[in-house]
Amino acid sequence: MNPYKPMLAKIEKITVETPDTKTFKVVFTDPEDAANFDYKPGQFQQVSVFGVGECTFCLTSSPTMKGYIEFSAKKVGVVTSALHEAEEGDIIGIRAPLGNHFPTDEWKGKNLLFAGGGIGMAPMRSVLNYCLAHKEDYGKITVIYGSRTPADLSYKYEYDEWRKGADVYLTVDAGDDSWTGRVGHVPGYLKELAPSSENTVAVTCGPPIMIKFVLQELKALGFEDENIYTTLEMKMKCGIGKCGRCNIGSKFVCVDGPVFNYKEIADLPQEF
Ligand SMILES: Cc1cc2nc3c(=O)[nH]c(=O)nc-3n(C[C@H](O)[C@H](O)[C@H](O)COP(=O)(O)OP(=O)(O)OC[C@H]3O[C@@H](n4cnc5c(N)ncnc54)[C@H](O)[C@@H]3O)c2cc1C
Ligand code: FES
Repeated sequence: MNPYKPMLAKIEKITVETPDTKTFKVVFTDPEDAANFDYKPGQFQQVSVFGVGECTFCLTSSPTMKGYIEFSAKKVGVVTSALHEAEEGDIIGIRAPLGNHFPTDEWKGKNLLFAGGGIGMAPMRSVLNYCLAHKEDYGKITVIYGSRTPADLSYKYEYDEWRKGADVYLTVDAGDDSWTGRVGHVPGYLKELAPSSENTVAVTCGPPIMIKFVLQELKALGFEDENIYTTLEMKMKCGIGKCGRCNIGSKFVCVDGPVFNYKEIADLPQEF
């Protein structure tokens, strides 16, 4: 099989999440591709818009959602702008699943803490929905999610479902007339809520500045590096460890990652 050849997929549904982010629900056009496709939370894909280019997105759907996959794209440049112009029914290319995944089996019996910001919720939504679907395997699940404004919060239609199995805390940097919730940054909310690090794994994804301060708070709460996970977003081309575009020292983020814990990250050359 040619690993550079994308599978064809039809955009079945487009959901506008925020002013700059859309979620694409896609189905493979070849029933054999659909039947053979399987993935784990944290894996990613290379999406091609034919005639424009290819770029990288995590799978934001959970493997427990059968028959389709979803990814969320923030409009930042050439390919993501073309995607934002796509319509339901359009055909795109997908190379997936790529990369490693969150070690959800190792986490069994533990409490889970998710601290995310903005589009960083995209990879966390996959693992969160996976763990909620296997709630009996995990302890207490806590979600802290923030964005710049209420309009920038993604996946609003799912919060009630999340609340059935998790404590969900939302916050925005700046509220508006409709917002009655908390105003402030994710790290500050984490400090205020002070979840116990006892038997708990933390996952954090979001803007680098948020992650920096979330890490500080997690350390203050007693979380060890090996119990804090994130996904790294190095620029990628091949996605399969061939082109050398995404390496950090001897590691290729596209095959050794994108999921790492902070003990592994501490062992990497600090060149990113
Ligand atoms: C493993 C992984 C998972 C990702 N998951 C998602 C996701 O779920 N949703 C999402 O919206 N985006 C995700 N990204 C980022 C996404 O791949 C880039 O935003 C996209 O490739 C930009 O393509 P473009 O052609 O629109 O932008 P370009 O026209 O190529 O560039 C526009 C701007 O975006 C910057 N840029 C390009 N690629 C990246 C990158 N990888 N990281 C940071 N900045 C970049 C460029 O430096 C430039 O400033 C992920 C990236 C990786 C590596
Ligand atoms: S993207 Fe080519 S080696 Fe990782």
